[in-house]
Amino acid sequence: MSRFEDIVSIIKDDLIAVESILTENTTSEYSFVDMAVQHVVEGGGKRLRPILVVLTAKASGYTGKDAHLLAAVVELIHVASLVHDDVLDEATIRRGRETLQTKWGNKVAVLVGDYLHARVLSMLVSRHADDPAMDILADTTQAMCEGEVIHAYKSGDFDISEEEYLKIISFKTGKLIAASCTLGAQLGSLNSEGVEAFTSYGKYIGAAFQMVDDLLDFVEDTEKIGKNAFGDLREGKLTFPIIYTRKVCNEDEKKILERVLDPETDELETIEFVNSLFKKYNVEDHCLKIAQSYADDAKASLPSLTNSKELTALLQLADYVVSRDS
Ligand code: IPE
Ligand code: IPE
Ligand code: MG
Ligand code: MG
Repeated sequence: MSRFEDIVSIIKDDLIAVESILTENTTSEYSFVDMAVQHVVEGGGKRLRPILVVLTAKASGYTGKDAHLLAAVVELIHVASLVHDDVLDEATIRRGRETLQTKWGNKVAVLVGDYLHARVLSMLVSRHADDPAMDILADTTQAMCEGEVIHAYKSGDFDISEEEYLKIISFKTGKLIAASCTLGAQLGSLNSEGVEAFTSYGKYIGAAFQMVDDLLDFVEDTEKIGKNAFGDLREGKLTFPIIYTRKVCNEDEKKILERVLDPETDELETIEFVNSLFKKYNVEDHCLKIAQSYADDAKASLPSLTNSKELTALLQLADYVVSRDS
């Protein structure tokens, strides 16, 4: 299994260029605004979405610099979503640092998220006013927000089905990951079928990515994932591992599960009971199997272009999304 750093080493220089664009475009002349914005824009994240823009662009034959700006744009949309997501989820740690609202309060966090979206708009206009990326990213941001709203609305609703959940994650996570691939592929010289193949790859790895993210919430510690472990559980956010467990466990267990998922229940009791069910029903294996089948679908979606090192990296990235531990 290839390491993430090795997979992306072929685009090291591109990623440095993306970092410069991120800094240049988010610097504010007001020192407090700048400090709050840089707190979330600076490193610490995996930069998966920029990586996808660059790799899909290069795999599609593109050699110019436009991919860097679009890569920075998708990262800023992602960061804005994380800032707002942490307010919704009352999270205290993100990318190994205090979340914005823990440091400076909800008001600052909400406004910094808005600020980042405003930066995105002006970066896109700077390319050219009728940039087709605008259309894709407007649609994507809308879907991402819809997914987050529906998930927040469904919080604590035990009857959410696996199908409904998969639909939610395809919106809140899959859309932006897929759009990153579409934008990269559109820079190249592919026909619409070729671009669609990369979009499809992105949709599948998006689904795998969120499935694994949901699992990491239960199986890794805060230090490793750089955000609060058991955060979903604490917030009553029902995710795939719990939805599946509730489906397969017996009636008595289901009753206890619903009781311990109440945020009023002692956290240790909740974690212990959930862990015991996970073990009994092999929940981790089941979730990983589903995530791997999405990763396999992603790989199968890639167009059969001439073999390139970027295409190889995209294949490896699909497996990394499942095997990652942070
Ligand atoms: C976290 O995304 C939010 C989800 C969609 C699961 P990442 O795991 O890509 O977060 P960073 O960018 O590496 O911090
Ligand atoms: C929401 O999912 C991710 C977004 C699309 C913003 P999560 O709530 O699972 O993301 P994390 O775990 O906080 O990163
Ligand atoms: Mg969250
Ligand atoms: Mg999560």
